[in-house]
Amino acid sequence: MPTGEPRRELSPGEELCVTTTVIAHGGHVIAHAEGRTLLVRHALPGETVRVKVTDVSRRVVRADAVEVLEPAEGRVEPPCRWSGPGGCGGCDFQHVELSLQRRLKSEVLTDALMRFGGISAEEAAGLSPEVKELEGFPEGLRWMRRVRWARDKDGAVGLRRHRSHDVIEVDHCLLAREDIDHPGAVRAGHDHHVVRDREWRVGGFWQVHATLPEALVAAVLDLGRPQPGERWWDLFAGAGLFAAFLAEAVGTHGSVVAVESSGDSVRSGRRSLGDLPQVRFQEAAVAEWIVADDHEAPDGMVIDPPRSGAGEALMAELTQAGIPRMVYVACDPVALGRDVRVARSHGYALTAIRAFDAFPMTHHFETVALLERDAVQPLMT
Ligand SMILES: C[S@@+](CC[C@H](N)C(=O)[O-])C[C@H]1O[C@@H](n2cnc3c(N)ncnc32)[C@H](O)[C@@H]1O
Repeated sequence: MPTGEPRRELSPGEELCVTTTVIAHGGHVIAHAEGRTLLVRHALPGETVRVKVTDVSRRVVRADAVEVLEPAEGRVEPPCRWSGPGGCGGCDFQHVELSLQRRLKSEVLTDALMRFGGISAEEAAGLSPEVKELEGFPEGLRWMRRVRWARDKDGAVGLRRHRSHDVIEVDHCLLAREDIDHPGAVRAGHDHHVVRDREWRVGGFWQVHATLPEALVAAVLDLGRPQPGERWWDLFAGAGLFAAFLAEAVGTHGSVVAVESSGDSVRSGRRSLGDLPQVRFQEAAVAEWIVADDHEAPDGMVIDPPRSGAGEALMAELTQAGIPRMVYVACDPVALGRDVRVARSHGYALTAIRAFDAFPMTHHFETVALLERDAVQPLMT
């Protein structure tokens, strides 16, 4: 809560001591001082830190914790020497013990569902949104299969500073798989992927965490429960990761329409799913495709939009199509919350949530949500 303190203007570069309160989306913790709300990076909730103001706007002040005066439990020595104030902007949580990273992300998810999705505290407790560890990377390192190295105008290669185009020269990244962890490995990342014995050679989008595709497929199938003979849509389908396994579940008497705007992804998908005649790829923008024809409502739908979410207009269109089950895969909890609010206002209930720590050391995570038509919103029992 903002204090009743009179508001004083703060300036970039200014330093002050604050005690932080709660986690916020984006890798920040909240603090209040001088009648202003501060978004503090490199801190934990409940710490007393000296912060340096980095950016001031009318609504918020951004600041970096530059000295920890009273640390909170769960603070650790960052494994990467380039993380921290003024350093590489790729990681937000190098100073946070891994299980605490996941607890903080779970709090962010609950808060987003309540604040943006309109879910009550009782309903949130009924869903118990908990961000879970993914298999294979117990130290939260080496999970990344693609690194986007940056190069500045002087030719320096490295990674970008937080909210900046400046390049921090680094000679390796601990999040990346060892064979692609250095700037010499330009055009890093392999385009060959295998999930449940199915192979993809991808030109377009593919999940960057090595074991996330398997976890997402399992969650989508478990929550969506596709049955033989059913008709499904896979919207924002990429190269058809979900379409492939939906197709196997519905069989040749069912059908899957995979809608994706990237031609490269559609071509990859058609190649990899060539043995599944029940799948039809449609190269189109989802919002245009949905209004272009009089589509018969499918039995279920998977939707996996980019970070900005589906948006109000598309969600309204989809929820009016009469689809019984929607499995929503989200990389941004706030966008998910906003879209859930639209779905709920059109008669859907949010009946299940799975969340995965697909980006350890950063504030990001991945969520799978089940929206069901005419269902009852579960409450804590
Ligand atoms: C988060 S990715 C999901 C891909 C896929 N479901 C997967 O897990 O591999 C989002 C996908 O949406 C595609 N996309 C972005 N905007 C789109 C639009 N307006 N219509 C259709 N596809 C779009 C991107 O090319 C990308 O492949």
